[in-house]
Amino acid sequence: MRRYTTAGRDSPAVMLGDVEDPRPAPGELGIDLRAASLNYRDLIVASRFADVVPLSDGAGIVSSIGSGVEGFAISDRVVIGFMPGWVEGEFTEAKKGSSLGGPGVDGVLAERIVVPASGVVRIPDSLPFEEAATFPCAGVTAWSALFERRPVQPGETVLLLGTGGVSIFALQLAKLAGARVIITSSSNEKLERARVLGADHVINYRARPGWEDDVLRLTGGRGVDLAVDVAGPGTLNQTLKATRFGGRISLMGVLTGFDGPIDTLAILEKRITLQGIYVGSVATLRALVAAGIKPQVDRVFAFEEAAAAFDALRGAGHFGKLVVKISC
Ligand SMILES: NC(=O)c1ccc[n+]([C@@H]2O[C@H](COP(=O)([O-])OP(=O)(O)OC[C@H]3O[C@@H](n4cnc5c(N)ncnc54)[C@H](OP(=O)(O)O)[C@@H]3O)[C@@H](O)[C@H]2O)c1
Repeated sequence: MRRYTTAGRDSPAVMLGDVEDPRPAPGELGIDLRAASLNYRDLIVASRFADVVPLSDGAGIVSSIGSGVEGFAISDRVVIGFMPGWVEGEFTEAKKGSSLGGPGVDGVLAERIVVPASGVVRIPDSLPFEEAATFPCAGVTAWSALFERRPVQPGETVLLLGTGGVSIFALQLAKLAGARVIITSSSNEKLERARVLGADHVINYRARPGWEDDVLRLTGGRGVDLAVDVAGPGTLNQTLKATRFGGRISLMGVLTGFDGPIDTLAILEKRITLQGIYVGSVATLRALVAAGIKPQVDRVFAFEEAAAAFDALRGAGHFGKLVVKISC
């Protein structure tokens, strides 16, 4: 089968090669991949590590079944969990270690993969593979950010940063939950697209570097109930300002780096709940598939164009998700 490996540099990020088909061990499924989607994490993996089969998010059809597997049949249409080892329950280091498409764990930018059957979710015939492949990381992360621990309530106000994969899923899910959404972007055109998806208020963070004051104005000086911060240390202090007393922040992003000075006083004085998010379980993926939302696929690349898909992700011109079609 053909599969890509990372080059350990920015561009071209991946190289195509041939290997023998993997065969499922007991308890595993062989899946012929039809589509895979890219996440910001894949840029980090590709530039830092060589010889990894990249991408965590894939959908396809069951093509072989290991002994002892029940509940799946050949040709079933499926999507694979970001961490097939995190089926449900509490998060652990071992479950994190099952994350696909990182050092030591082959990802889905390949024609075939074998994974534990317990890490796989069946999808309806009406859901195209190109859309299903956007759920495992960005979709599940957005779901976790909004609904884990203390779920967002109808009428609450949610702040979202940028219009990448996680934030656009969060926009769709927050609207489904009856929340009011404020979203930022560097692009007025993308903000218009966000409005079409239901965003109630939009702010261009490039034109308005003090965007947190705009958020306060839009909430009558109170601040938002829940903020989803995908950018990290470069935005967290502004997000803290934009969040109400007693509010909560779901932090999952590293778009501005991995560490930096944080206004810890604001966290405690405002009694803000700051929760770290690391994607989510296969059970959450199942709930997301059942929710029936239509993912925003910005562009689909052919399998042979996978390196260009990485370049497009780095260019950040996309709205929502970038997808690679692996075969028909
Ligand atoms: N911990 C987890 O579980 C988890 C899961 C998924 C993703 N993540 C992280 O979340 C972040 C987003 O991931 P993604 O896959 O959604 O990325 P993505 O699709 O590549 O999103 C990129 C977009 O983020 C926006 N952005 C960039 N810098 C920004 C800033 N300083 N302020 C506000 N928005 C900014 C831009 O939107 P505009 O073009 O609209 O300006 C950009 O187009 C990444 O850091 C990723 O590693 C974490």
